[in-house]
This record gives sequence, C-alpha cells and structure tokens, in this order.
Amino acid sequence: MPVILGIETSCDETSAAVLSGTGDTTQLDSLVILSQDVHRVFGGVVPELASRAHLTSIVPVAERALADASVALGDIDAVAVTAGPGLVGALLVGLSFGKAVAHGTGAALVGVHHMEGHLFATSLEHRDAVPPFTALLVSGGHTLLIDVEAWGSYQMLGATRDDAAGEAFDKVAKLLGLPYPGGRHIERLAAESSPEEARPFRFTRPMVRGDQQLGDPDYFDVSFSGLKTAVLHAVRASTNIERDARAIARAFQDAIIDTLVEKSWRAARAFGRQRIVLGGGVACNRALATTMSDRLGPHGVVVFAPKPRLATDNAAMIARAGLFHFERGVRDSLGLNAYASMPIPGLRT
Ligand code: KG4
Ligand code: ZN
Repeated sequence: MPVILGIETSCDETSAAVLSGTGDTTQLDSLVILSQDVHRVFGGVVPELASRAHLTSIVPVAERALADASVALGDIDAVAVTAGPGLVGALLVGLSFGKAVAHGTGAALVGVHHMEGHLFATSLEHRDAVPPFTALLVSGGHTLLIDVEAWGSYQMLGATRDDAAGEAFDKVAKLLGLPYPGGRHIERLAAESSPEEARPFRFTRPMVRGDQQLGDPDYFDVSFSGLKTAVLHAVRASTNIERDARAIARAFQDAIIDTLVEKSWRAARAFGRQRIVLGGGVACNRALATTMSDRLGPHGVVVFAPKPRLATDNAAMIARAGLFHFERGVRDSLGLNAYASMPIPGLRT
C-alpha cells in the first residue's frame, strides 16, 4: 500500500500530510497546517513574506506530519508536492523540499496541480464525494465550475470573469470594516440578520438571467465585481452603517450564494450529475452548503462540503491527488519547476 508525503506551499499555508492507501480507499495518517499570520496586518498575502515564512516552517511542519503518522522518511513511496498554480517563490520552497526528500530517500516525485488537489479534498472526508460529480471550487484566488467525469477527466464549464468569490467576500468585508480575510466575518454578521431585514438592500444576482441557455458564454460563468460595487453604493448611501452592516452583509451573501447555487445546478443538470462537491475556502461557509443542499436536495442532488481543514489549502488533498497520479505511473524528474499558472492535467475546456 503506497505511503505518500504531501507538501503544499502555494500561498500562505505551510502544510504537510501523510496519506496511505490505494484508489479511493485511503487513510489520512496525519495533516499539519501552519497558517501564516503575518499577512493579516497587510490586508492581503505579501509574496516575499510568504516565501520566507515557508522557509522557516517547512522542515518542522513536515517532521511533525511524519511523526504524527509514525512514518519514517524511508517508508515514503512518493512525495506529492504542489507545483502550481500559486506564488512562485512560495511554491519553490515546498518543491525544493520535496525534491530533496525524493532525492535523499529514493521516493518518487509527483508534481500536483493545486486546483486538482481541491477536487480530491472532499473525498478524504466523504466516501461518496467521488466522480462523476459537479465541482464548485471557490477560494480567494479562484472560482471554477468543473464537470468531473472521472478522476483525471475534467471539463471546465465556467469561471469568474473578474473577482473570485472569496475575493468578493474579502473586499466587501473591508467595506464593512471587518478584518482580513473577511469571509467568515461576513458569514457571522449575516447570520445576525434576517431575510426581512436584508430585503431593502437586495442586490441583483450577478450573471443570472432567465433567458440564458446552455451554450451561451455566460450560462456557467460568474462575475462579482459589479456586486461589490453595488455593496459600495449601499454602504455610502447608508445613514447608519453600524445599524445596516449586518443587513448589507446578509444581502450580499444571499446574492453570491444564489448565483453559485444556480450555476452549480445548471452544471449538474446539464451533465446529469447527482453530486455536487464544494471546495476552497468559501466552502467553509455553512450558509452556502446548507442553501445548496436545501434547494437541490429535492432535485435528487447531494451536496458535499468539506470540513474547513480540507476546504482551505492543505497538503492532504495534494497527497490524495498525488496518489492518483502515482498509481497511474506518473513520475516527475528533479528538474520539475514551479509555475504561477498551469493547466489542470486532464482538463478539457
Ligand atoms: O482556499 P483558501 O483558504 O485560500 C485561497 O484563496 O487559495 O480561501 C480563502 C478565502 C478567503 O477569501 C476567505 O475570505 C474565504 O476563503 N472564506 C470564506 C469563509 N471562510 C473563508 N468565505 C465565506 N465564508 C466563510 N465562512
Ligand atoms: Zn487553494
């Protein structure tokens, strides 16, 4: 049974995990995630600081993951490491570490696409979150709607035309004076409000119109920058923002969720999928998962949302995607590079 060491350093989490198993029968033996706090004061990730923080953490984080799993370096069959997309300087830290382990132990090196990792993440927690399914990946950097026919066989259906869903949450949080990253603060504030209270602030659902049809370029795509501007106007128009903030947060969250639910439902329907799998940091939003489940359940669709540790960036998902490629014979050379952007392997557009 292969033992995989997963490494993830594409953004601001230094993470290592040990996973063993074969096919969809896997066991997560350990998962360590060290979130870099330093970016909070800057209101966004500072690439150079991210690289430096990865440098100081990667060895202890990986050692801890191995110790938690009671696995020695010599027991590892493959090192699965994120090769992109992400911050190149940050990626290079994990990649160099992974190469060193592979070289020193003789383990195979398998480069993993970060977003393919997110596709696998939920299956580590829910055994039925396996293909075929519709995937909605919503993070600070990405908003992707993908049809997953089988592992390794993906079709890109839609993406954001401007801001990612998480980015929209973060920008609106900033408008409302909430800390960065703002997604969970918006969710908390919105929960204090009611649909009645939010109604006067109702925002147009972006990119959702009744006359859109399969084949139209905007049928699956999303766009959030107009929504963010609408929130800005609502904030400016408010005569008492302390009073209105929670209703505005609720109205914003409702608009974003409605759009994501509608687009996911369109994708599931178009491909006859009965499962929708969520991933990325915004998948931590309980209102998103619950609303999607409540609305699409009656249509026979089951919605799977990962727990926060698996929704946000983590090395367990990288190990799992790496296992898939390792079992199919993929081996990367020590010449493997890090890429700011790269296509998902097996993706048709
Ligand atoms: O996947 P992730 O940890 O990092 C990347 O961007 O790759 O996602 C972070 C994003 C942030 O924009 C954050 O505000 C958002 O996920 N987020 C949430 C929630 N928790 C995190 N958005 C909405 N509701 C949440 N509960
Ligand atoms: Zn991510």
